[in-house]
Amino acid sequence: MTEDRSAGWAAYYDKLRDRPPRRTLLTALDRLGPASGDSVVIDLGCGDGRDVVEMLRRGWRVIAVDAEPEALKRLQTRTFPAGCDLTPIVARFEDVPLPLGVKLVNSSFAMPLCEPDAFRRLWQRIREALPVDGRFSGQWYGPRDSWSGRPGMTFVSRDEALALLDGFDLEMFEEEEADGVTPRGNAKHWHIFHIVARKREDTPRQ
Ligand SMILES: C[S@@+](CC[C@H](N)C(=O)[O-])C[C@H]1O[C@@H](n2cnc3c(N)ncnc32)[C@H](O)[C@@H]1O
Repeated sequence: MTEDRSAGWAAYYDKLRDRPPRRTLLTALDRLGPASGDSVVIDLGCGDGRDVVEMLRRGWRVIAVDAEPEALKRLQTRTFPAGCDLTPIVARFEDVPLPLGVKLVNSSFAMPLCEPDAFRRLWQRIREALPVDGRFSGQWYGPRDSWSGRPGMTFVSRDEALALLDGFDLEMFEEEEADGVTPRGNAKHWHIFHIVARKREDTPRQ
């Protein structure tokens, strides 16, 4: 089962290897402005690093987390800017500590890949770790997605998503719903929220 999953992710990394950074990440980085001092950003479920490379290119210190050792192995074969500061961690993102004051938590097409309780606990930790003006960028899945109901995944309605994002300014909140295919060529109905959110204030616990 685990081997099947790992083989599946390896095929995914092969397919998407040369894709550019995600639009959500680029928007968040543009809004954050230049990397400051020793500020840290983190990528949860980084895969083989299409977003990590861009964070490093812009001068950020990056913590890159993925549960698949193969993802981080492939990440480390990429070309990085000289003198960059990358900390790769093989772990489930539900378990990894978030550095307090992290300026950006990015999770492109990854954060919903955990149980609903874990998703909500992780989101609470992200809310607490981000400083005012810190950003979250990434995708969450909606209930009309054809994967809805799969064990080990989380789906949130538009209203739930907006409630979770209370206390944040939404710099991007785009709902996409379309028939398409997965990177591995399977037919799929996508229901996705593309999110870039700026923490506005010391957010209350949810
Ligand atoms: C769809 S891929 C996205 C990869 C990359 N962020 C991108 O945008 O191309 C999801 C990644 O999340 C990782 N992943 C899934 N569940 C995870 C978890 N609970 N903790 C850490 N990584 C996880 C997978 O190994 C995979 O590399």
